[in-house]
Amino acid sequence: MKLGVFLALAHRLIVHIVQMTRIDFFDYRQSCKLFYSEDPVKIVRARGQYLFDENGKRYLDCISNVQHVGHCHPAITKAAAAQMDVLNTNSRFLHDNIVLYADRLAATLPQKLCVFYFVNSGSEANDLALRLAHQYTQHEDVVVLDHAYHGHLMSLIDISPYKFRKLAGQKEWVHVAPLPDTYRGIYREDHPNPGQAYADTVKDLIEDVHKKGRKISAFFAESLPSVGGQIILPQGYFPKVAEYVRSAGGVFVADEVQTGFGRVGHHFWAFQLQGDDFCPDIVTMGKPMGNGHPLACVATTAEIAGAFTANGVEYFNTFGGTPVSCAVGLAVLDVIVEEDLRGNAVRVGAHLKDLLTKLKARHEIIGDVRGVGLFLGIELVIDREKKTPATEAAAHVVKRLKEEDQICVSTDGPWENVLKFKPPMCFGMENAELVVQCIDRILTDMKASDLKLEKEDI
Ligand SMILES: Cc1ncc(COP(=O)(O)O)c(C=O)c1O
Repeated sequence: MKLGVFLALAHRLIVHIVQMTRIDFFDYRQSCKLFYSEDPVKIVRARGQYLFDENGKRYLDCISNVQHVGHCHPAITKAAAAQMDVLNTNSRFLHDNIVLYADRLAATLPQKLCVFYFVNSGSEANDLALRLAHQYTQHEDVVVLDHAYHGHLMSLIDISPYKFRKLAGQKEWVHVAPLPDTYRGIYREDHPNPGQAYADTVKDLIEDVHKKGRKISAFFAESLPSVGGQIILPQGYFPKVAEYVRSAGGVFVADEVQTGFGRVGHHFWAFQLQGDDFCPDIVTMGKPMGNGHPLACVATTAEIAGAFTANGVEYFNTFGGTPVSCAVGLAVLDVIVEEDLRGNAVRVGAHLKDLLTKLKARHEIIGDVRGVGLFLGIELVIDREKKTPATEAAAHVVKRLKEEDQICVSTDGPWENVLKFKPPMCFGMENAELVVQCIDRILTDMKASDLKLEKEDI
């Protein structure tokens, strides 16, 4: 072989090795994650509650709460395309859509939440909520629930224990209250009044904050903590916490980014589960609002908005509340009503919960079944008494559901042992029955040795 050819081949080999190493290096350090990372799925189209891969294989989607009224709903596509064809400017020009949409949203909320700021994501909404609270109260400190996630901006990582615990840690202005989880938290089902008991933990925290000479700006919580493990909050918790927070001069922020727009069925907003009289000072919303279009919002009171305006600094958001975004938002609200999706969430959610509860009687590994409407969780445990999380078993169920049944389910909770259901709201009775049948088969099938192994691991 001539020297030149040899050198060229050697060079190519070295380049190849460097590239391979770089790919491995990047894979290892990748911060953006795929579902089913060992065997990812390429989805090329979707409709309703179904996803289709490049080979036409159909998957039942139990996790896409963003595509709230169903994937690629024709009414949403039509509304977006029609408005896109006429005008899409920003909210500095007058336009009917933003006014019509704000009116429709206002009709779903308590009267006092009458000012709306339109933004593009749940993170933007929560960041603005922090600013509003800060400006209104002139205080800095924030109380959040353990394991919470409120978004990906720096300000929100700071108030998300789920994230900051893995990073630089807790800032001095952030205070973490126990998650009011009546299944495995500090006060459980057997407590006579867990709502009051958990609210008192916030009261104690506020007193500690005052002792340090600091002041509370806001209490921030999801109306049903999702990353925390599909938690249903005990009755009376929010009203009591709001009382304590307000008497400390702070405001109550309900993060409805995951739970709003009728997911819980009987109520349009999950905070309404805490009683008809309960009203947060600020509500943030996002994901389902635009059915996949980047549309989010902060709703608040005239007093809080007034204090924000008083600083004399303009609030402008280039893509927030454009005519197209608002046309999409209006169409989503129409479909929720026209297709009675809240009624569907009540009926199908109750059926699914009932079937899963029956399954619990047959499988020791199911420690808890909880939920409301189409927001449900099944917590898997190694043994019911100690409630040891069955993390590997949960991952195993998720993998087999995907591989054997083409059903997409994922896990949540601090130990990733809660199978979560937040499907598009058109999820049907037959979908619920199929999922339960498949979970039943997999749990029956799972070798006792798999579980024993996990027990030794933990
Ligand atoms: C409860 C909650 N709040 C806020 C966010 C942030 O929303 P986005 O990803 O649209 O910025 C999320 C996202 O997962 C969320 O679950």
